[in-house]
Amino acid sequence: MAVIVSGSRDYSRSIARAIALRLNLKLVDVLSKRFPDGELYVRVVNGLEDEHYIIVQSMEPPSSNSIIELILLLDALSEFKPREVTLVAPYLPYARQDKVFLRGEPISVRALLKTFKTLGVNRLITVEAHSPTALSYFPGDVINIRPLEYMAKLVGFSSDILVISPDIGGIDRARRVAEALNARSDYIVKRRDRVTGEILVEPRELDPRGLEVLIVDDIISTGGTIAEVARILREKDASKINVMTVHYLNIEGALERILKFTDRIIASNTIQPLYPDKIEYIDVIPLICDTLTTILERV
Ligand code: R5P
Repeated sequence: MAVIVSGSRDYSRSIARAIALRLNLKLVDVLSKRFPDGELYVRVVNGLEDEHYIIVQSMEPPSSNSIIELILLLDALSEFKPREVTLVAPYLPYARQDKVFLRGEPISVRALLKTFKTLGVNRLITVEAHSPTALSYFPGDVINIRPLEYMAKLVGFSSDILVISPDIGGIDRARRVAEALNARSDYIVKRRDRVTGEILVEPRELDPRGLEVLIVDDIISTGGTIAEVARILREKDASKINVMTVHYLNIEGALERILKFTDRIIASNTIQPLYPDKIEYIDVIPLICDTLTTILERV
């Protein structure tokens, strides 16, 4: 079997507890504190040698401390000579910097994934990574859970809905959701100015007049993308505008921006659900548990 360890954030702990309960796994205590200068301290209390450790770390924004904590935890675990280390990262941060857009930039997701591997992670389980192909920077076993079809079916959207991707990069997501609903899909052409961050949307031939639409995206951060796309769809007389995302990052101001142009927002709980009165959250932890069950049967 395996044991579960989690970082100190409340949300990491609550996901770890949910997984431990569902899979009947033992939680290993971790002591975490901060030194007066702000540096982090962790100690894996009562760790055992030769175990399969499942580390649950929520790295939602602000993510820097969680990343450092994970680095320290992995180093502490290496002292117990683990048989296997599986990292469960419901949200993989830094994933949007997945290529060099401007000369001199890092490929941030590559830096992170290589660090995890170097520190002993054998297997990474994440949910809807921004760029699935960038996961190949992790030189180990990677499982990318894609929950949007499951979410769309659970909500029960009808096949009359028009599924929209806010950019060309997300077409595959919109298509998969549309297929699951037996509906049609389309996309909007969005560009982001790499220097200013400004979002430019170029409407294409798209006729949502009188139709219920579902905008599907992996991440909502500032809400700028969704707000702009929803505004255009409203201008073109869509009858109802739904938005569904996996990672709703809880960035200040995003909700107001989106609510101005949309009727319904759905998100998963990879990020702590903070607005249950405005966002319909869908629990995707059972999907993580199913994946872990398959792995535990194998190793
Ligand atoms: C970008 O490629 C992503 O898929 C999202 O569209 C983007 O990260 C959303 O960011 P924001 O909410 O700040 O517009």
